[in-house]
Amino acid sequence: MESKIAVIGLGYVGLPLAVALAKSYVVVGYDISEHRVREIKEGYDRTNEIEETVLKKSSLQVSTDANSMLGCDVFIVTVPTPVDASNTPDLEPLRRASAALGEIITKGCVVVYESTVYPGVTEDFCGPILEKISGLKAGVDFYLGYSPERINPGDKVHTVEKITKVVAAQTPDIAQKIAQIYGKMNNNNIFIAKTIKAAEAAKVIENTQRDINIAFMNEISLIFSKMNISIYDVLDAASTKWNFLKFSPGLVGGHCIGVDPYYLAQASKSLGHDPQMILAGRSINESMANELADLMTQRAGRPLRLLVLGLTFKENVPDLRNTKVVDLVEALKKRGHQVDVHDACADPKEASQFFNYNLVPVLTVDNHYDGVVGAVPHDLYCQFTSADFGRFLKPQGQVFDLKAIWRKSPPSGFNYWIL
Ligand SMILES: NC(=O)c1ccc[n+]([C@@H]2O[C@H](COP(=O)([O-])OP(=O)(O)OC[C@H]3O[C@@H](n4cnc5c(N)ncnc54)[C@H](O)[C@@H]3O)[C@@H](O)[C@H]2O)c1
Repeated sequence: MESKIAVIGLGYVGLPLAVALAKSYVVVGYDISEHRVREIKEGYDRTNEIEETVLKKSSLQVSTDANSMLGCDVFIVTVPTPVDASNTPDLEPLRRASAALGEIITKGCVVVYESTVYPGVTEDFCGPILEKISGLKAGVDFYLGYSPERINPGDKVHTVEKITKVVAAQTPDIAQKIAQIYGKMNNNNIFIAKTIKAAEAAKVIENTQRDINIAFMNEISLIFSKMNISIYDVLDAASTKWNFLKFSPGLVGGHCIGVDPYYLAQASKSLGHDPQMILAGRSINESMANELADLMTQRAGRPLRLLVLGLTFKENVPDLRNTKVVDLVEALKKRGHQVDVHDACADPKEASQFFNYNLVPVLTVDNHYDGVVGAVPHDLYCQFTSADFGRFLKPQGQVFDLKAIWRKSPPSGFNYWIL
């Protein structure tokens, strides 16, 4: 019999997955957010991952009613795994989703977790919740699986249907079953990991490795800036070596790279190991907003009226969660600058709701700024010419290019600064 699948949590990860699986299976999407479910039903995906026409054509059924999942035999959990204010993993969404599933699952069901976690969360945290509420035994009556999600929001190349999917389960048969299900979606581009814990660990180190590599770039960019050497000139030269790893400096925000290392660090500490390198990377990346604000203030020599271009945590997405541009804006304000923010992709209502920022709606000559900060390389900003800068920046105004957006042809008639 064909599996009937439920996807729990319809965000950046869950919705594209549910839509892709719905091409081959009967799929029910469940989310606790009334707002999100209503929008999806209307064909609108605020994360910009799924186009309206695709969403409207999809056979996916979505609901906020957990009972809509009754009768499903495979459950895929894609709820958030954030950290709290002290950077401690917050497993509450996983607890809540597992508790809801405990009421639904029956003998023979498979529950696959996709949320990014530290090794052990699926079997030692979620499994017991499912067992307690369902009265069933994991590995005997129902089965646990894990399949890390690797999609990169805003990236239209590495989509859920094109990337290798790692899967793991409590038994080889269940791993095969999960592999077959995902395989239909991505042309059998599947890797079966040896254990659930290995699959959990693989995901968390993918993102931790990235965080550490970016931290190294950030550290050397600060060293080189004291030597009046641009990190980008250094990278141009160094990356001609075959085995040089090319990363670039940046404000590491969002809900993955800047969060997941704390999951691994927590697991490490609980076992009595001090995760020095992981936390050093985090600490360097967390300090970048202040470091950059200091460098810009030094360069400016006086308080400026600044326009920051880009607020989202990365380019070409509307996602404002854990964006470190906010830290930069606040650090600049603390140093006496007057700061406005424009964003080509963010929802102004969310910017106001999350940070109390009134985004500049249009860039016009009425806003003659002393300086512009290129913080996020949205496509719109990448296309700016000197004439565009002239519309909102004073002649000889300062351009702080934090992401090497205009490095290839710096705007003329302005003071251009790059790390
Ligand atoms: N976004 C990414 O780029 C990305 C990439 C790889 C992995 N991940 C991981 O995938 C997981 C999900 O991330 P996301 O970005 O899709 O999150 P998201 O915030 O975009 O979406 C999560 C959805 O889950 C819903 N939800 C929360 N609690 C729920 C519950 N108890 N029951 C049902 N629905 C619930 C929320 O309403 C929301 O719609 C996280 O663990 C994240 O680390 C994310």
